[in-house]
Amino acid sequence: MTSPKLFEPLKLRSLEIRNRIFIAAMCQYSCEFQDGIVNQWHVVHLGSRAVGGAGMIISEATAVTPEGRISPWCPGIWNFDQVAAWAEVNAFAHSQGAKTAIQLAHAGRKGSSYREWSGSGSVPRELGGWKTVSAGEEAFDGYEPPRRLRVSEIKELVQDFADAAKRSILAGFDAVEIHAAHGYLIHQFLSPLTNQRDDEYGGSLENRARFLLEIVAAVRSTLGHNIPLMVRFSASDYKEGGWDKEQTVQVAKWCADAGADLFDISSGGLITGVQIPTGPGYQVPLAEFVAEEVEQPVGAVGQITHAHQAEEILQSGAVEVILIGRASLRDPYWPLRAAHELNAELSYWPPQYRRGKWPN
Ligand SMILES: Cc1cc2nc3c(=O)[nH]c(=O)nc-3n(C[C@H](O)[C@H](O)[C@H](O)COP(=O)(O)O)c2cc1C
Repeated sequence: MTSPKLFEPLKLRSLEIRNRIFIAAMCQYSCEFQDGIVNQWHVVHLGSRAVGGAGMIISEATAVTPEGRISPWCPGIWNFDQVAAWAEVNAFAHSQGAKTAIQLAHAGRKGSSYREWSGSGSVPRELGGWKTVSAGEEAFDGYEPPRRLRVSEIKELVQDFADAAKRSILAGFDAVEIHAAHGYLIHQFLSPLTNQRDDEYGGSLENRARFLLEIVAAVRSTLGHNIPLMVRFSASDYKEGGWDKEQTVQVAKWCADAGADLFDISSGGLITGVQIPTGPGYQVPLAEFVAEEVEQPVGAVGQITHAHQAEEILQSGAVEVILIGRASLRDPYWPLRAAHELNAELSYWPPQYRRGKWPN
């Protein structure tokens, strides 16, 4: 194989991305408690993946407001100290030829949680947690119940996403991803399982999608014409009567009309107690289903761990981008390794590491 598709460049609006390997958003829970400011951990963590040859590196879920954090250790972009810190991350990643996207997020009822290694469920308010918000008042399994958002607050949150996008540009990000997946706030609005509102943000698909579509439109208008905007969906709740791939397609089309450029297709996360058919590439069929229906490029994610596996997914036609998550936690140089295995000649192999190309 002489020119693997994995290493073909991709253009999104005016952004040239050196290959089709995106690093998936992955929480690090590594800010100082409460400050939401990324630090040297994030520079090295995301920087290693830039050295490692990824085309695009997507930040972990980054909150648009303090209450939007998943945990008190998660980063935000609601103030300028946070912008300055993100700028350091971006400067190093860019120096290595990678592009960066920020995943703008609001955790909703899954916020105020412990980090994986220091507890489970909600952090109590007296220990620095907060009252969470959602489309309704039903708690996520094992968490404190949220407060139902008022319409005026929903509109403020739309503006918070737009303001966060403005600060993201100042921080040097090349693109934005809206996190509408994994049971976080936007997904809580999308799914009939968590949205029983009877106002203009609940009920019909149009109404459940309104929050997301208003965010996409507001962020697009902030980004202007040149900066790409991606949306991450969970294409299935794996439960009858929940969110599914057909609704994902329809809402992705509306998002495209509102200015979205790429769809990153994941699944699950809204509720517990459902069977998720995991295994190698288990979400690829969902990504392919969406890709067949929308004009914009689609990314596949989920247990894609090997170079040949990733290349086969791209060669099979529908999907344009591969997102690598946990495999890149084992190996930040996953793309360099994949280039080696697929015999792809890279102009951007770091000169310091050129001997690692051997025996190419
Ligand atoms: C430690 C960790 C943190 C994660 N944090 C996020 C996140 O902030 N936002 C998100 O959309 N997905 C998050 N995910 C999900 C990943 O982006 C990815 O979709 C998932 O791990 C499946 O891909 P993989 O099999 O390649 O790891 C996280 C996954 C891991 C392992």
